[in-house]
Amino acid sequence: MHDEQNRVQQMSEDFQKMVDDFFTIQCRYSAAMREIQTKLEILDDEFQMRHKRNPIHHMQCRMKSIHSMMEKLRRKNYAVSMASAVENLSDIAGIRVICSYVEDVYTVARLLTSQDDIRLVETRDYIRQPKANGYRSLHLIVEVPVFLQDGRITVPVEVQIRTIAMDFWASLEHAMRYKAQGQVPEDICQELQQVGEDIAVLDKRMQSIHDRIDALTAGAENS
Ligand code: GTP
Ligand code: MG
Repeated sequence: MHDEQNRVQQMSEDFQKMVDDFFTIQCRYSAAMREIQTKLEILDDEFQMRHKRNPIHHMQCRMKSIHSMMEKLRRKNYAVSMASAVENLSDIAGIRVICSYVEDVYTVARLLTSQDDIRLVETRDYIRQPKANGYRSLHLIVEVPVFLQDGRITVPVEVQIRTIAMDFWASLEHAMRYKAQGQVPEDICQELQQVGEDIAVLDKRMQSIHDRIDALTAGAENS
């Protein structure tokens, strides 16, 4: 009986420690996420001033919940603790940047990663090399310094940059996969993959129209 009480006591202490650790790291990751968000807002404002349009259509920030951190650690066979999450997960803090045009995706990525307090840890270009299911997006893992009372730490943030059309596709595919609980019929998968191709064509055409209009207005300004 005494052993059982000790075990329950220990479990509750472990759980309390995990919750405390979660709030400590949440604070750090949330700070890093806000820093990247501010950097992106400043870049967008400056671009607007110079070119009279915004490359960023909108942004979404999200922090991984304690529940989905634990789920991912378990799925990837890592130890399930906050220390392990910090060591093994690079997407605890995430920012999704939605652009109108595909060239803006690369411009935003270049402008952000060329800042000297940002370290680019990883790039995955699912636009040039889409996933087999048709998923398209540019993924970056960047590290940003966060200044705490005890000094400076660097914190990774996942930045997903994509066009409105790619985002439409990804939201739909995600919702559908969730609804079908992973059991999506083959014909629907094939159609989604095809729609992904169509979207890539559409993005190219929109870019081309945009460039032609830009050239027209530049011509009019010079004449
Ligand atoms: P995760 O274990 O999901 O983090 O994958 P990963 O670490 O191999 O990274 P990856 O770059 O493949 O994906 C990271 C994130 O991109 C995911 O958490 C999703 O937000 C998004 N993503 C990747 N693939 C897909 C996809 O096929 N469909 C949708 N809707 N989103 C995706
Ligand atoms: Mg990931």
